[in-house]
Amino acid sequence: MSESHQAWGQPQHAMHFDALSGVPGFVLRRAYERFNEVRLLNTVLDTRSNPVRLLEVGCATGEFYRYLSLRHPQVSYVGCDISRPALERARQKYHVEGRFIETDTDLKAVRHVSPDIIFCRDVAHHQPDPLAFIRKLYEMTKSLLVMRVRTRDAGATVGDPALSCQLNYGAWAPYIVVNSQELLRTIQGFSPQPRRIQLVKHYMVLGGQHARFLPKECYYPETGTAEAALLIEKGEGTAACVVQEEAAQENLQLGFIARAVSWLARPGRLGG
Ligand SMILES: C[S@@+](CC[C@H](N)C(=O)[O-])C[C@H]1O[C@@H](n2cnc3c(N)ncnc32)[C@H](O)[C@@H]1O
Repeated sequence: MSESHQAWGQPQHAMHFDALSGVPGFVLRRAYERFNEVRLLNTVLDTRSNPVRLLEVGCATGEFYRYLSLRHPQVSYVGCDISRPALERARQKYHVEGRFIETDTDLKAVRHVSPDIIFCRDVAHHQPDPLAFIRKLYEMTKSLLVMRVRTRDAGATVGDPALSCQLNYGAWAPYIVVNSQELLRTIQGFSPQPRRIQLVKHYMVLGGQHARFLPKECYYPETGTAEAALLIEKGEGTAACVVQEEAAQENLQLGFIARAVSWLARPGRLGG
C-alpha cells in the first residue's frame, strides 16, 4: 500500500470504525440520518421502486451496509475498501460472497460492478488528488454519486499532502480541503456534463481536531471550512447543469437514550 494509504491497513482502523456494530437498528438509523449526505441519498432512494445497485467506496467495517439494508432493503449493495482488517470485520458480520470486495486505490477491482449509485463518505479528502478521485467515481457511476468531502470557501486548495494531512494510527494520510468554487467548477467540467450538483455544507473549523496538520487558515472560522455533502446527478451532456449550494448545520447530538444505548453497546462492554 502506498505511503498515503498506509494508515488504513492498521488493525486499529477496523476497531475504531466498528463502534456502531453493537447498537440496535433505531440508534444506527438515528446516527446515520444526522448526516446531510445520508439525507441526500435517502431523498433519491425514497422515490425509487425499481431495483437499484449501489456501490459504497470506502465501506470500512460495513456498518453503512447494515443501515441501508434496514432502511432500503430493495437496494442491492456492494462495498469495497483497501483496508484488509476492516473488510475482514465486515465479512465476519455480514458475509455474502462478493458483497465486500478488497480493492486497489485505483478501484480496478470494482470496475465490473456497474452501479446505479456510488456512495463514498470521507474517502476523497484522504486521497493525494481528491478531484481526480471524484472524477473517477463519476465515470464509474451510471446515474448518481453521493459523497462527503471537505471544503473551504476562502483561499485556494492546498493540494500538497505534506502540508495538509492527518495522523491516523501512527501514519500520515492526506487531508485535502478543496476550495468549494474550484470543486463546483471542476465537476461542471466533467464529461458528460452533470445534470445537477448539490453541495450542502455543515460549517465547522476543521483545523485543530483529530491530530490534523492543516494550513493555518483552516483554523479560522472566516475560511468557511466544512464537512460537505455532495450529490452529482450524471447527465447526458445535453441539458445545462443546475448547481445548488446551501448550508445546513447537522445536529450531531444523538439524544440521551441513543447515547446511553451506544455507550452500553461499545465493543468489549457487553461481550459484543
Ligand atoms: C475515514 S474512513 C471512512 C469510512 C466510512 N466511509 C465512514 O464514513 O465511516 C476512510 C475509508 O476509506 C478507505 N479508503 C481510503 N482510500 C481508498 C481508496 N482509494 N479506495 C477505496 N477505499 C479507500 C479506507 O481504508 C477507510 O476504510
